[in-house]
Amino acid sequence: MESRAQVRVVVSGATGRMGQALARLAAEEGSGIEIIGGVARASYESQWAGEIGYPVVEAADTCEWLLREAEVVVDFSSPQLFRTVVGRHAALLRGKGLVVGTTGLEEEDHRLLGDAARHSPVLPAANFSPGVNLLVELVQRAARALGPDYDAEIVEAHHRRKVDAPSGTALHLGEAVARGHGSALGEVRRDGRSGQAGERPRGQIGFHAVRGGDVVGDHRVLFLGERERLELAHSAGDRSVFADGALRAALWVHGRAPGLYSMRDLLGLG
Ligand SMILES: NC(=O)c1ccc[n+]([C@@H]2O[C@H](COP(=O)([O-])OP(=O)(O)OC[C@H]3O[C@@H](n4cnc5c(N)ncnc54)[C@H](OP(=O)(O)O)[C@@H]3O)[C@@H](O)[C@H]2O)c1
Repeated sequence: MESRAQVRVVVSGATGRMGQALARLAAEEGSGIEIIGGVARASYESQWAGEIGYPVVEAADTCEWLLREAEVVVDFSSPQLFRTVVGRHAALLRGKGLVVGTTGLEEEDHRLLGDAARHSPVLPAANFSPGVNLLVELVQRAARALGPDYDAEIVEAHHRRKVDAPSGTALHLGEAVARGHGSALGEVRRDGRSGQAGERPRGQIGFHAVRGGDVVGDHRVLFLGERERLELAHSAGDRSVFADGALRAALWVHGRAPGLYSMRDLLGLG
């Protein structure tokens, strides 16, 4: 039987938890992905890179040749490395697929994604799990149906090494609530409460970040009414659920027209 050509992928953030999960899944038979190398803080000896499933790992300053060879670049790193790869090396990414899972990105970073999408198919997602993307849809519907009389609070839990809070997924869920309410998240967001926090205003969207242990990612959206409560929740059992979604995204963007896509497009939720 004729074997399908594999898509050549470079992973930015190769040595991290997600980078290693991506390499493990890509190595499985029939993945359709060939990981040709990774980018991290420093270059690694090929022996060590090989142990985590990468033929080569380059530092951000020496990765240009590798990016040139890629058909799709997948970024799960930090805002700093994201800016180097997608900002400083933007010209090298033209026409290639770009999948971005890095969280904690700022407005300027979203502009970089928009610029990249003029020449490349780009799919950023705060969460690549199918369940969470469905949850976002359900949360928006619930917020629209219940309205701001039901107070919306978002509680998320992650492992102790996570550096940003609230999680990108929690913010995404908050945006879904705000869309459902017809408000702007920036105007109604409230992160945690302590001391004389005052009475809760109608329409506020609260965020609470729990950190500890090895929690992969839990998200709970509470709609608290006068006489009833609705809770919509998702728990990720293993980070391979994100890696699997990101590799699906890498295959999906490959060869697609330039544009800014989302997991909604990939999952047909639109
Ligand atoms: N969208 C999703 O579904 C999803 C799911 C899980 C995680 N995430 C996000 O993905 C990102 C990575 O998560 P993780 O758990 O894999 O993190 P991690 O274990 O800390 O790994 C980070 C990776 O990025 C590299 N890196 C970070 N800063 C760098 C810099 N300034 N220069 C060069 N390399 C740098 C690290 O290289 P060194 O090892 O050399 O330091 C490492 O390879 C985070 O933003 C996380 O929130 C998203």
